[in-house]
Amino acid sequence: MAFYSEKVMEHFANPRNVGEIKDADGVGEVGNPVCGDMMTFYIKVDNNRIKNVRFKTFGCGAAIAVSSIVSEMALGKTLEEVMNLTNADVAKALGGLPPNKMHCSNLGADALHKAIENYKSKK
Ligand code: FES
Repeated sequence: MAFYSEKVMEHFANPRNVGEIKDADGVGEVGNPVCGDMMTFYIKVDNNRIKNVRFKTFGCGAAIAVSSIVSEMALGKTLEEVMNLTNADVAKALGGLPPNKMHCSNLGADALHKAIENYKSKK
């Protein structure tokens, strides 16, 4: 049986950057139709960098840990750096995820990328 890493448990217990940005520059929402989990990312952009990031996640423990670590990884980075962030990077940063939870890591990077695309489409 596969277990969560300590890092996953820690982010799940104390998620960073939870919430919503009312006047966000970009919003990205993704869902997984199989498990029904949903993730929304809100970003503020300044000088091509992520100045602020918040998320709302309705999902499993791994999805919450993924959202939390993705928000930390994105903060202060350029939009290009964040677009290059892969799902594998996210899973690695969390010390790995059990195989049946790998799809949870996909939601994180995808939602963030969508928020950036949304920001770019508004410009
Ligand atoms: Fe679907 Fe985790 S079980 S996001």
